[in-house]
Parts: sequence; C-alpha cells; structure tokens
Amino acid sequence: MARLSVNVDHVATIRQARLSDEPDPVQAALRAEVAGANSITVHLREDRRHIQDRDLAILRRTIKTDLNLEMAATPEMLKIAMEIKPDLVTLVPEKRQELTTEGGLDLKTNSEELKGFISELRGSELPVNLFIDPNADAIKMSHKLGATGVELHSGTYAEAKSIAEKRVEVKRIQDCAILASRLKLSVHAGHGLDYRNIAPIAAMREIEEFAIGFSIIARSVYTGIEEAVREMKRLIG
Ligand code: PXP
Repeated sequence: MARLSVNVDHVATIRQARLSDEPDPVQAALRAEVAGANSITVHLREDRRHIQDRDLAILRRTIKTDLNLEMAATPEMLKIAMEIKPDLVTLVPEKRQELTTEGGLDLKTNSEELKGFISELRGSELPVNLFIDPNADAIKMSHKLGATGVELHSGTYAEAKSIAEKRVEVKRIQDCAILASRLKLSVHAGHGLDYRNIAPIAAMREIEEFAIGFSIIARSVYTGIEEAVREMKRLIG
C-alpha cells in the first residue's frame, strides 16, 4: 500500500497572509497523522513565504511519522537539514516569483554541485530524493548523482486537458516509475494530485509515496483536515 505524505505548507500560507499565529501547520500535521498520514512534508523556502524555521523545529519534535523536508540545494538549507535531520530530504528547484514549484530539477547544469550536496547529506545518513520531471534521462542522472530516490513531478499530468494528453502523461510516469524502481531508487510522486486525478497514478505499484498538499488543505476548509486526509487515503488504496 502506498504511503501518503501530507504537505502542510498551505496552512502556513494562510497564517502568513495575516502574519498571525493561526492556523498552525504543526497542529494540521498532528491531525493529519491521526487521520492516517504516513509522513508530513514541508518546503522551507529561502524567502520563508510560508513555513518558518519555528515550524520545522517544532514538527521535528512532535510528529510521530516521517518528516520530509523539501528544500533548494543551498548552503543555508544544507546546514538546516544537518541540524534538523529530517527522515527524508527532497531537493527541489526554487524561484522567487513562482506560485509553487514549477518544474523538476535541472540535473545537467549543476551536476557536480548537486553530487557534492547529495554526498554531504548522505554522509549524515539522510536519504535524498530529487524532484524531477518524468523522463528517463533525469532518472538515470538521479541514480548517477547518488540520490536514494526520485519524486516524479506529476504537474504536467495534472494539468493535461484532454483524455489523450492524460494518457500520454500516465504512460510517461508509469515508464519512469518502472525504470526508477529497476535502478533501486525509491519512487515518490507529487504535484497537482487531487481527489479526481489520483486514481491512474495510485494504480502504479512502483510508486511508494505520494506528496499531496493543495487539494487536501483546500478540501479541509469544508470537511476538516482529518476527513480530507482519510478520503485521500481511501483513494490511494
Ligand atoms: N512535491 C513537491 C516537490 C512540491 O514542491 C509540492 C508543492 O509544494 C508538492 C509535492 C505538493 O503539490 P500540491 O500542493 O500541488 O499537492
């Protein structure tokens, strides 16, 4: 059965809109766990637009499941990861102007730098996933750079309009999941997954974990986070 990692960044986004102390992403994470989340994901951005250092520190001490820290490959984030010791580091590209992470990592331009970065993290026994677009080159490169796993970017699938386009994207993700699993990389997927589009991706046996944020937090406005998490768990199966 695949695992669900609930991304609570969007709870922090609401809090930061008023620079208030509520809603608290830590409380959201604890409730998500009670409802069956297998892991909690947060993205500590360079500009701290949603998750704050305080959130990360408290989450590390309070959650009972795994902590997946999404971060850019920068010296500041490396230091934080070494201190916090999350259960998983997911390296993501980061641009200041984007609304959310827009694409997978560019593994070619900074390959040497990334290799050193991954090696430092793994030297501290931290597993490292690379958030990549679903293509064979990026999978092979992730393996070469020493990552322990990949998170396949499902955004293009989520945004595909026609059934034909969706089919192409499902096949692309499936082929990549099979390749990554053959290379003994752990296989995660995320971005844009929701209650309506999860089924074909959830059916892929090679995918071990889904990182889902926006759709769960959006639904929780009406149902509460526990029900929103339980429903997504049912769909993941
Ligand atoms: N995985 C990664 C690497 C992300 O950057 C995000 C967005 O923060 C997600 C998963 C979750 O995407 P969504 O919020 O669209 O479910």
